[in-house]
Amino acid sequence: MELTINGKKHRIDVPPDMPLLWVLRDELGLVGTKFGCGVAACGACTVHVGGQAVRSCVTPVGEVNAPVTTIEGIGTPDSLAVIQQAWIDHQVAQCGYCQSGQIMQAAALLADNPSPTNLEIDEAMQGNLCRCGTYPRIRAAIHNAARRLRGG
Ligand code: FES
Ligand code: FES
Repeated sequence: MELTINGKKHRIDVPPDMPLLWVLRDELGLVGTKFGCGVAACGACTVHVGGQAVRSCVTPVGEVNAPVTTIEGIGTPDSLAVIQQAWIDHQVAQCGYCQSGQIMQAAALLADNPSPTNLEIDEAMQGNLCRCGTYPRIRAAIHNAARRLRGG
């Protein structure tokens, strides 16, 4: 099958019920997306499919029918995405394990809602767990990125 990932077409030969996360990490080497729980309960594996945040650990690759964006596709070391820069400015990450999923979930939120309230942020992010408890800094970084994306 053919998949578009981060703007590039890939031909892959895998069973259609293989989770997208396996394809990304094991077939294509895109290891920025993390395996946490494997049952859609932690958000570590969050990527975008057609612009929507999805849990790639429970998404069969055969059901993916829109372009995929992973953490590797939203910015580069020379040109970070606004949300990535906000994450750095607020020093959000601790161990970092959950953070690619957090950023992808937050990016989907901001694409949908340019001025989220604290409540809207908490609702949108509630499925992304962080064992290091970075939630207050995640919220601050999302507000910061929202301001910048609005031109403030
Ligand atoms: S690894 Fe997919 S939600 Fe936890
Ligand atoms: S930064 Fe460690 S789990 Fe979130």
